[in-house]
Order: sequence, then structure tokens, then C-alpha cells
Amino acid sequence: MKISIKAACFLVLGIFSFAHSPLYAADIKAGEKKAAQCAGCHGAKGISNNAQYPNLAGQNAGYLKSQLNAFKEGSRTNMVMQGMATNLTEADIANLAEFFASLPNKTVNSTAKVPADASGKFAMCAGCHGVAGEGNGAFPKLAHQHPEYLATQLHAFKKGTRKGGPMQAMAANLSDADIKIISDYLSSLK
Ligand code: HEC
Ligand code: HEC
Repeated sequence: MKISIKAACFLVLGIFSFAHSPLYAADIKAGEKKAAQCAGCHGAKGISNNAQYPNLAGQNAGYLKSQLNAFKEGSRTNMVMQGMATNLTEADIANLAEFFASLPNKTVNSTAKVPADASGKFAMCAGCHGVAGEGNGAFPKLAHQHPEYLATQLHAFKKGTRKGGPMQAMAANLSDADIKIISDYLSSLK
């Protein structure tokens, strides 16, 4: 009896540490090599020159990993990205996420005039995404992103074609005009 309790404790501890330690220490160099497959759309340095394709440079590694896994599992749908992600191993995903997160991004993507109250409209988002849209862990960085991409994602959350944590509820209350103002505001931050 004593032994089996001890064994059970080891098992629980073992599972606990297994679940909480990354299986692979991320390898940025390996990520950079693998990222050659992504460069055609996302840019060699994670800055894309086509607004359909999000910038990945400087995005949080945790968020990048969660999205690559979501495409792989099909819980985030996009034909192109689901096709890309199915072939990635757990190590590839960790390495790619760490590589793109390590790249600088201070791009100003929008020169659209934003109304003076734009930062006020973003205030309800700042608790999760940061006052300057800088993000934090699972909450993606939004600053320095293409405004068209941000708007597309907000419309997708609003319609329910993209599901993700609290975002459907957040986007449900945004008018089309607010979506444009907030997206331009975030993309115009220096
Ligand atoms: C043929 C073009 C194409 C290629 C190649 C491609 N992607 Fe994408 N990627 C996209 C598009 C389009 C989206 C936006 C999907 C959407 O609207 O939901 C996207 C979105 C993403 C996102 C989500 C970003 C965010 O802010 O939520 C990540 C992460 C990503 N791609 C990583 C990669 C990686 C890593 C590779 C290489 C292994 C790659 N992509 C290759 C087109 C591409
Ligand atoms: C309670 C926390 C929370 C609040 C508040 C919040 N978000 Fe989010 N947001 C998230 C999370 C978590 C995700 C990632 C969802 C996923 O996993 O797909 C996200 C994703 C996004 C994305 C997609 C980014 C990308 O790279 O694809 C956009 C755009 C966004 N949020 C904008 C906003 C805006 C605008 C507001 C305010 C109106 C807001 N968020 C409020 C937590 C929040």
C-alpha cells in the first residue's frame, strides 16, 4: 500500500513536470532555417509586404505557437495556413515561434488619419493587449500589424468564423467604423 501511494505520487509529479516543461528547448537557428517556407508570404524577416499576410516579427512566441497549433488542429480555419501547419512538428512550431518572436518590428503600417478618441476606443482592449498594443503572452501584440489584417480578424471574430477566447464577445460590440478606427490606430503607432 505504502509503495503504491509513493508510486502514484511519482506518476502524478512526472505527468505534472512533463506537461509543464517544454519537450524541446526552442532552437532559433533551426527556426530560421524552417522559416524559408514562410518567407514568400510573411517576409524573410517576418515583415510582409502584402496586407493579407500578417507580420510575424516581434509577435509573442506563446501566441505564435498557439496559432500554429490551432491551424494544425483545425480550430482556426484558413486553407493556406492549415496546409502549412499540418506538416510542422512540435519542435518546428516551437523553433519557428521563437525565431519570429526574436525579430524586431517597429513598422508603421498605416498613415490613415485616426480620430483623437481612437486610443479611448482601444482602452477596453488594453487590459489584455497592453496600453500600446504590445501584447503579453497569449494576448497577441497588435501594434505594428497591417490594419487590413487586424480589421479582417475583428470581422471574423464578430461573424464567428474565427473563434478565440474572449474575442468573439469583444468584437460583437464593435461597429464597422470602430473596427476601422482601432485597426488604423494600432497600425499607426510608432
Ligand atoms: C502562401 C502564403 C503563406 C505561407 C507560405 C505561410 N503563411 Fe502564415 N498566414 C498566411 C495567411 C493568409 C494568414 C492569415 C490567416 C487568417 O486570415 O486567419 C497567415 C497567418 C499566420 C499566423 C497567424 C498570425 C496571427 O497574428 O494570428 C501565423 C502564426 C503564421 N501564419 C505562421 C506561418 C509560418 C510559421 C509559416 C511557415 C511555416 C507560414 N505562416 C507560411 C499565409 C501564409
Ligand atoms: C480579456 C482579454 C482580451 C480583451 C479585453 C481583448 N482581447 Fe483581443 N485577443 C485576446 C486573445 C486571448 C486573443 C487570441 C485569440 C486566439 O487565440 O485566437 C486575441 C486576439 C485578438 C486579435 C487577433 C490578432 C491576430 O494577430 O490575429 C485582434 C485583432 C484583437 N484581439 C483585437 C482586440 C480589440 C480591438 C479589443 C478591444 C475591442 C480586444 N482585442 C480585447 C484577448 C483579449
